[in-house]
Amino acid sequence: MAGYSLSPVALGTSKVLQAEYCVKRPDYDFSAALLQALRREEIDEGCEGAGSESAGSPFSSPLSSLPPSRSPSPLHLPVPPLSLSPAPSSSGDSSVKTQALSNFPPLPIPSEPMSQGKSASEGRKRRMKASSKRNRKKRRQQPKEAADIQPPENVAARFVEQNCALAGAFSLELDSPVASTSYVGLLDKEEAVETRAWRLAELVGPRAKESFTLVKAAPGRTVPISDSEGRVVALLVYPANESIKTASEEAACLLRDLRSEASFTSKQKHHRRGNFPQISAGVAHGGGRTRPANIVQNPDNAAVVDQLVGSSAFQKLSGFATGVFKAWVPRLYEYCGEHFEQLLASDSNLTRLFRHSVLPVAAFNFGPRTVCLPHIDFGNLPFNLCWIWSLGWFDWRRGGHLILWDLHVVVEFPPGSLAGIPSGVCRHSNTQIGKKETRYSFTQYAPGANFRWVDHGFQTEEDYLLSRSKAEAQAEKIRKQDRWAMGLGLFSTLEQLGLELASTQ
Ligand SMILES: [Fe+2]
Repeated sequence: MAGYSLSPVALGTSKVLQAEYCVKRPDYDFSAALLQALRREEIDEGCEGAGSESAGSPFSSPLSSLPPSRSPSPLHLPVPPLSLSPAPSSSGDSSVKTQALSNFPPLPIPSEPMSQGKSASEGRKRRMKASSKRNRKKRRQQPKEAADIQPPENVAARFVEQNCALAGAFSLELDSPVASTSYVGLLDKEEAVETRAWRLAELVGPRAKESFTLVKAAPGRTVPISDSEGRVVALLVYPANESIKTASEEAACLLRDLRSEASFTSKQKHHRRGNFPQISAGVAHGGGRTRPANIVQNPDNAAVVDQLVGSSAFQKLSGFATGVFKAWVPRLYEYCGEHFEQLLASDSNLTRLFRHSVLPVAAFNFGPRTVCLPHIDFGNLPFNLCWIWSLGWFDWRRGGHLILWDLHVVVEFPPGSLAGIPSGVCRHSNTQIGKKETRYSFTQYAPGANFRWVDHGFQTEEDYLLSRSKAEAQAEKIRKQDRWAMGLGLFSTLEQLGLELASTQ
């Protein structure tokens, strides 16, 4: 493994990490391998060029210009086919020395003669459906051992500068506020104390009250963050390809334009995460529900959600996040996928919001100034990642950063970038943005109660406790003790990803 060449830049008591990039194995085409894997799993959205170089950085300007008019993209667009064109090269961020990645060669696409008509198309759909069903059945019959599932070879070498991860001052195992069942986290006791949005200057720089590490955005790169025991617990993804840039701008336009068509309750506008309207959609348990159910929307918001979910922009962003999740944290992805499939199969009323996503809930944050206050999403599965897209038009070098309090890290979070964080156990928030700036966000996550419902035989806890035998009760007691360790084992490690910790000396 190569030594480090990270260059910490002193900034008061904090550090800014910049890195040189090198390709460990330029012959290995991770993008192609990932696409092929995702095609096999029917994930056909948004995965091309995950982390690839392209001509235009999505955040080449600190403050993207606000489009003057409504989004040009019509709503209810069908999701376009996967683009397999090679991405153009980019010079990237001038502050970071980079070595250009080779363009991704196109994958062969099986051709389907157009002249075969509707019957051939329907026949193909039937065969694909049957094949998919057989594959799912086969997977259920032959459960994989978690230890057998490994990240794709060289995923880190392809996308991480110098194969280096940042170290967070946090142990997921020891420092996480987790309920004894490990299905949910615990309410953040500090939440009532920290009720304001911080400024960047309070976290890094000569006059900072805290000593946080600033993670700088690096177009085309992924920045992994490890906990103190070598688990990769957070991923910061800075896509540089044009398709993601376009999708993120269209997504922001949709949120801007549809905001006036939604009707928000006071609770949706003012909540523990901040003062901005939010709509959650998907399959969730808790909140007065006696079983997992589709989150009910009022008619206005149902129409808005339909348009957002039906848009190619949000499908693209969701598909990209799904591809990153699968590539970097495959055991956790598989665990979420298996539980979600079982949940959907148990009740035909339940709907999957985004194609191929293994996360059942999405939250759309309508801003216009989405600045989260410090909080923990303790209802989420504690050993899981929540995927957050930053959207809008704001000076991302000055504000809108993602603060990971437990990791002592503050992250540049430009519009069109993605973060995967353990939101169920790590306190997080955003830095302030300008009064006239616009920030939205789009998140996907999994409530812990959904997993408990599946594990306990699709019944309430009361019914489960009454129905189980002594032997089953004993087995559950052991599982309860082991569940946290099992969950920790689903994260990828530095060793598995071929990463080393960045030196901050
Ligand atoms: Fe959150």
